[in-house]
Amino acid sequence: MARHKDPITALVLEAAARARRETANEPEPGVTGQLAWPVQCTVGPGLEGAIACESKVGYVNGSRGWLVYRGYDIFDLAAHSTFEETAFLLLHGHLPTHAELETYGDRLQQRRRLPKTLRLLPSFPIEELTAMAALRIGVNLMRLNQSSHDSERQRPGVVVERIGTDEDSIPMETLPRGQARAVYEFRPPPPAAPRAKPALSSGYDWEACDRLLAGTATVAGAVHRIRTGLLPLEPDPALGHAANLLYMISGTRPSEQAARILDIALILHADHGMNASTFAAMVVASTLADIYFAVGAGVGALSGPLHGGANEQVLAILAEIGSPRFVRPWVRDMRARKGRIMGFGHRVYKAYDPRARVLQPLTEILARDHRAIRPLYAVAQALEREVVATLGHDKGVFPNVDFYSGLVYRALGVPDDLFTVLFAVSRVAGWTARIMEYLQHNRIFRPRAVYSGDFGLPYVPVAQRAAGTAPA
Ligand code: CMC
Repeated sequence: MARHKDPITALVLEAAARARRETANEPEPGVTGQLAWPVQCTVGPGLEGAIACESKVGYVNGSRGWLVYRGYDIFDLAAHSTFEETAFLLLHGHLPTHAELETYGDRLQQRRRLPKTLRLLPSFPIEELTAMAALRIGVNLMRLNQSSHDSERQRPGVVVERIGTDEDSIPMETLPRGQARAVYEFRPPPPAAPRAKPALSSGYDWEACDRLLAGTATVAGAVHRIRTGLLPLEPDPALGHAANLLYMISGTRPSEQAARILDIALILHADHGMNASTFAAMVVASTLADIYFAVGAGVGALSGPLHGGANEQVLAILAEIGSPRFVRPWVRDMRARKGRIMGFGHRVYKAYDPRARVLQPLTEILARDHRAIRPLYAVAQALEREVVATLGHDKGVFPNVDFYSGLVYRALGVPDDLFTVLFAVSRVAGWTARIMEYLQHNRIFRPRAVYSGDFGLPYVPVAQRAAGTAPA
């Protein structure tokens, strides 16, 4: 196979070729195809095996390690696409034409500026919250920008993307402290500007999807900067989604290589079947509650340590092990204690996670230039060999997406507590795509629980209840 002239594309294509040699990309019988409701399936705890809906958005073949968005192999998208193009694909079902892609890029760029949200965000105790809790607040505040848009659509000519000029209500400084750009421009208020009406709809339209996709990145950057005592930055209209995200976090325009690697990481995290956060977002959307609540629910579910966040713990483990020569005793000890090794294993994948296959060579490239990453990467490689040798074939435990993503993010200068936030910035694409698809034939999600409690208990007035008689 001829090597691609761009080294990053070449590495992704090599990873793809290796994966295709080692696995056959075939759909699993019974998991694909059209459904005829009612459907029969065997359901395990945690809804394992339950079929919640039919979808054309994406497919995960866990036994082979194959991930597909709208029919396209994740390796091809990682090698050749951009996050913007992949998001369009997930949401609209086809790869955009050149004109569609340009328009979409412009739409996202116009929707990255969030003056109202960024004005309000610092009035919450952001430094005291986790980054994900702050992101969830920011996502819900973004609703204000859309409400203004909805109102403007009703009353053309009214300037709505304006921040208040009541100085007392502005919780931030207006001068850029050595930053490339300041966030706020203070414009005079419009004479007797009519007040924006409350939200007109629950926002289930492409406008809301684009605003959520574009704006979550802006909120992510702002959350980090406010938490570290810096001013949020306005997005740079000359940069794409991934480059803007790095810029709005660090204040420095990233290198082409850094932007490309983050772009690939965002593509890899954009959708992943009916995972917990996607399901949470869809459950809220199925009630026809506001789409910003639905995405906020996705953020909440993703914040849990069983879902997003294992990559942060992987870095702690690599530092704890310290050297490749301590890997074997560390794994032996971990297995003896029946502990879980972070960054390995997956409910669906019982093979090598294709996203890890792409992230591993990207980590290798970054490790060459980042002295602090090199020793951690050496430990990671030794740990991967040891875990695959001991648990791979017996238990189907292989590296998952979180094993290398933390190393990639840290090498790109992303602080550890922002890793799950980046996951959310990308996954907004999958959440909104699946919500919009599901709502075409919406039925409120309403499973049942099997009641295993008592019946017919006599009601005892509180004064007559003896202490210690409450049921366990
Ligand atoms: N380390 C050691 N053993 C493991 C691991 C692991 N990371 N994962 C699974 N196993 C073993 C497990 O002990 C079990 O062994 P046994 O048959 O002797 O009981 C066997 O493999 C099957 O595992 P399971 O219990 O069926 O796995 P699960 O589907 O309940 O759990 C998981 C999936 C991801 C929670 C689990 O693999 C885990 O805790 N991994 C570490 C945390 C992690 O990396 N999470 C990120 C997941 S990817 C991002 C995302 O989807 O959000």
